[in-house]
Amino acid sequence: MTQDNTWRRTVNERAAAVTITVDGRPLRARAGETVATAMLAHGAAFDRDRTGARRAPLCNMGTCFECAATVDGRPLTRTCLVPAREDMAVQTQGRL
Ligand code: FES
Repeated sequence: MTQDNTWRRTVNERAAAVTITVDGRPLRARAGETVATAMLAHGAAFDRDRTGARRAPLCNMGTCFECAATVDGRPLTRTCLVPAREDMAVQTQGRL
């Protein structure tokens, strides 16, 4: 029986690196991965709710809005649906 490793990617097979800005801080991501994925991978904070509790992506398919942020000036953007692009600006504060 052969082992199927087609789901694995080597460093050379991954997409090009891009830099996005999250709350003014640069963050490296792979082109095409979602903004939410890049933020999670780097431990970037998402917004807080009205009680001050931290929020984070829950569904990763666009239904819960827990990943919402302002992306390139567009408020309430679901970052789990948005592919990272070079020079993208993300603001996590003040969505509520
Ligand atoms: S994680 Fe649920 S909408 Fe993005």
